[in-house]
Amino acid sequence: MTKAMKGSVLITGASGGFGLYFAKELEKQGYRLILHGRDAARLKLVQDVLIHPEKHRVLMYELSARKGNDQLLECLAKERIVGLVNNAGFGVWGGFEMCESVAQLDVLRVDLVAPITLAHALLPKLKKNNGFIINVSSLAGEMPMPYMSTYGSAKAGLTFWSEALRLELHGKVKVVTLAPGPSPTGFRDISGAPKGKGGWFSTPPEKVIEASLQTLSQGGGYCVPGWRHQCLWGLQKIIPRCVALPLLKYYLKP
Ligand SMILES: NC(=O)c1ccc[n+]([C@@H]2O[C@H](COP(=O)([O-])OP(=O)(O)OC[C@H]3O[C@@H](n4cnc5c(N)ncnc54)[C@H](OP(=O)(O)O)[C@@H]3O)[C@@H](O)[C@H]2O)c1
Repeated sequence: MTKAMKGSVLITGASGGFGLYFAKELEKQGYRLILHGRDAARLKLVQDVLIHPEKHRVLMYELSARKGNDQLLECLAKERIVGLVNNAGFGVWGGFEMCESVAQLDVLRVDLVAPITLAHALLPKLKKNNGFIINVSSLAGEMPMPYMSTYGSAKAGLTFWSEALRLELHGKVKVVTLAPGPSPTGFRDISGAPKGKGGWFSTPPEKVIEASLQTLSQGGGYCVPGWRHQCLWGLQKIIPRCVALPLLKYYLKP
């Protein structure tokens, strides 16, 4: 027996990683899913592990371009949207001057501009339906990140925007700002980040998603998932930057 459908939730970046676990958990909560990604084969795999794949919808658009955001939004015109999970994102690892400028600008477009664009356009529906937004930020947004400087900037921007929005929308739309540390998904392979770094802090994706949905059930909030990520967050807070940044530079150097 399935629960009555509660309305539709758009999950961006649903073709694997965190997106897969968001899809599984939100389906269990009775939502119809709009699974966004770019990779048709991986999206199909995600759809196939869901309990009722036929009830959900798959949309493929490139979020680094304004056109992709607009086309995605056009497809949602007739949907009863009750939730938005701004999850799509990627990073580029390496020295700033060594990494292509277009790729770094795309990090800003996908990780920061697209979430703002989608949220702004969907807010009337989300407000009407007493809905929610989950913004998948990162602990990389809590401190400058040598050799991943643009990614850290995008996530710092996302966290600040999301937290301000949470206060503005209080009582109308629930907002979760999810700030995980390392987790074993496709993220490192795509960013080119070396394996192993920060491994002690690694937390399974299912725990990350569980914590974010728990925060949502409590009305929204800033969520650092699991004790390992909370340890990392604690270190970011207590170690002075003049000490932490040179250590980070040494540790993260490619
Ligand atoms: N894993 C971690 O350690 C970690 C830690 C903190 C925060 N995060 C954040 O968590 C979120 C999810 O990442 P993940 O770890 O699950 O990594 P992932 O497995 O690489 O998933 C990233 C998702 O984003 C989509 N995406 C990437 N670039 C896109 C673009 N230009 N246009 C449209 N979609 C795009 C991908 O779609 P396709 O594959 O279909 O192209 C994929 O579905 C990201 O925002 C990431 O910054 C991850």
